Amino acid sequence: MGSPIHLTEIDHVAIAVRDLDGAIEYYSQAFGCQVEHRELVEKDGVEEALLKVADSYVQLLTPTRDDSPVARFLDSKGEGLHHVGYRVDNCQEAIEAVREAGGRLIDEVPRPGSRGTTIAFVHPKGSFGTLIELVQE
Ligand code: CO
Repeated sequence: MGSPIHLTEIDHVAIAVRDLDGAIEYYSQAFGCQVEHRELVEKDGVEEALLKVADSYVQLLTPTRDDSPVARFLDSKGEGLHHVGYRVDNCQEAIEAVREAGGRLIDEVPRPGSRGTTIAFVHPKGSFGTLIELVQE
């Protein structure tokens, strides 16, 4: 029996930056990208800007405090690709499929994300080195 397909779209590619305004300016000038949504996600200690690219987004992320996971990421790895967000119809079902496949979940149950989405993160260890976010709109 084959597995059902859970991913419906690449929702966003998230890039960790130290200077959010500088990065937005660069993406605007170099690529013509406009900010569609900007949000402070207090719980995760990040501020993010979503720049629309076709049906997906580039998400520029910057930490708002020193102990946020994105701050630790920048300290250890520097700026660059942070995670890939895949759109799913049902976050709970997608979590279960990851668990059955032997993946390592950071979020065992779906939780609120930005833009009113429902999300869960999957640990890069167990996903071939990429932090994955499951995004249900
Ligand atoms: Co994300």
